[in-house]
Amino acid sequence: MASRPESSTLVVPEVSSVPRHIAVIMDGNGRWATQRHLPRMAGHERGVAALRVAVEACMKRGVSALTVFAFSSENWRRPEEEVSYLMGLFLMVLQREVKALNANGVQLRVVGDLSAFSQKLQAAIAESQRQTAGNNRFTLTVAVNYGGRWDILQAVRRMLDVQPELALASRPIPEEALARELCLADLPEPDLFIRTGGEERVSNFMLWQLAYTEFYFTDTLWPDFDAQALDLAIESYARRERRFGRTSAQLASEPACDSGS
Ligand code: IPE
Ligand code: IPE
Ligand code: MG
Repeated sequence: MASRPESSTLVVPEVSSVPRHIAVIMDGNGRWATQRHLPRMAGHERGVAALRVAVEACMKRGVSALTVFAFSSENWRRPEEEVSYLMGLFLMVLQREVKALNANGVQLRVVGDLSAFSQKLQAAIAESQRQTAGNNRFTLTVAVNYGGRWDILQAVRRMLDVQPELALASRPIPEEALARELCLADLPEPDLFIRTGGEERVSNFMLWQLAYTEFYFTDTLWPDFDAQALDLAIESYARRERRFGRTSAQLASEPACDSGS
């Protein structure tokens, strides 16, 4: 994967009918469980299984990166019992899945403000990232205690630490100076954004990176999201005309550029 992917607002990126990078808000675990008269936690557990299926299906279809929202900076507002269950589940999954990720050539990354987590969880995150760092078949990024606004603000802080002269009023700030400090800066921007569970909102997910992403919403609850459901999303994506500001007529006169249709 290129270390300096193009910005969709600066150049028209290459597109094909298979998205290179998919971003997912895995929503609906709680409702899945409630519909079955189970505790919400059962839905989160099934959500982990659905993620495993999604990674495999993405790899089979030639997608190279998947980024999933597992815990938002706003999810701390949930009942303490659910928050602590999710932290425990996350720790267990990290420890349990690293072997399989390695066997499949998956590089695991965890993004978000990790300082809020226990030392034990932070150590497990660091260790699983270290153990999978050499894999390059597929990149799985899990966003935890992540918020799109936090991402932009931490990037501004880092940018100014590296280039303090950019704080001067007379200096224009090049988009690239900020973009390179964002989480996921070395991945192409997501081509496709999927939100399961019926809500049609971004909920503070990758606000900067979704500038030109194609959106797909489905009522399917995350634990029910399987390879077939992923295919429907990719089929929908393949029918989109990604104009990046240009007109349809312009696209039609540029046959060399695969618009994904
Ligand atoms: C998404 O499912 C998982 C997390 C936010 C951790 P939810 O837990 O939001 O499920 P619903 O939306 O209540 O059904
Ligand atoms: C968004 O889901 C975050 C994750 C899936 C981790 P929520 O279910 O918390 O989103 P809102 O608050 O209903 O928008
Ligand atoms: Mg939800």
